[in-house]
Amino acid sequence: MKVFGLIGNPVGHSLSPILHESAYNEYNLDARYATFEPAPEDIEVAIHGAEALGIQGLNVTIPFKEQVLEFVEPDSLAQRIDAVNTIDFSCTPPRGHNTDATGAVRAFEHHDITLENATVLLVGAGGAGKAIAHGLNDAGAILKITNRTEERARTLAESIDDATSHRLSEIPEIASNCEILINTTSVGMGEEESLIPADCITKNHVVMDVVYHPIQTTLLKSAIKAGAVSIDGGWMLLYQGAESFEIWTGKSAPIATMNEALRERL
Ligand code: ATR
Repeated sequence: MKVFGLIGNPVGHSLSPILHESAYNEYNLDARYATFEPAPEDIEVAIHGAEALGIQGLNVTIPFKEQVLEFVEPDSLAQRIDAVNTIDFSCTPPRGHNTDATGAVRAFEHHDITLENATVLLVGAGGAGKAIAHGLNDAGAILKITNRTEERARTLAESIDDATSHRLSEIPEIASNCEILINTTSVGMGEEESLIPADCITKNHVVMDVVYHPIQTTLLKSAIKAGAVSIDGGWMLLYQGAESFEIWTGKSAPIATMNEALRERL
């Protein structure tokens, strides 16, 4: 039996087991997806232990995405983002990838949205923001980045071609000049808040939220009301998982099956 899993702290409410095991079932793979919650000081021994035990692959989440860079060989995208969310133990040394970045791009592709030369307002320069910024930039998008802590937005914009940094107060003006609006912050998670005011959104916008609890955030409710294309946080979750599955198994991810399994829980 092959063993895959998620390493993070906490990981109790993760939907990744459901997502991945639906794909194993589809292909009749003898595989399981487990969750592991090591103490922060044990991360190095946990990664080496996973390798020694023959675990095939691990997803990595908060707070370990940056720390595991030291114990794997990151690909160039993970290196630029400075974070790994997928480890492939079939390579020696284990290889680190970042499927949050490619997952976001695939979520847009799923909705037939062209990213080449698209103007994007990216709100948030934390872990998710960084990954999405690099993924979208690689796909040819032009980014305008805002973040509550302005220094973080500046640092991210400086590390990317075709990106500028702005203050949160500039959101209304920037939104009116951008085709795509993305919330990558935790604002809206379990609360009725949005950093992008409803009156900034028109029917010509494409609006994405990475928050998936609730699945229809205040931001997405405003987008739907305005007649914009809305892409909820489930799509990025789905495609980052799909991409990890493909890296580990070499098989094409059964998107419809994985999406159905995920949507039952969202
Ligand atoms: P993740 O890995 O989920 O992206 P993170 O790296 O902690 O988590 O980033 C959280 C993001 O949400 C950051 O952009 C954070 O802004 P700061 O860099 O200023 O901390 C943003 N964020 C969280 N709460 C916020 C709030 N109440 N208002 C504005 N931005 C907020």
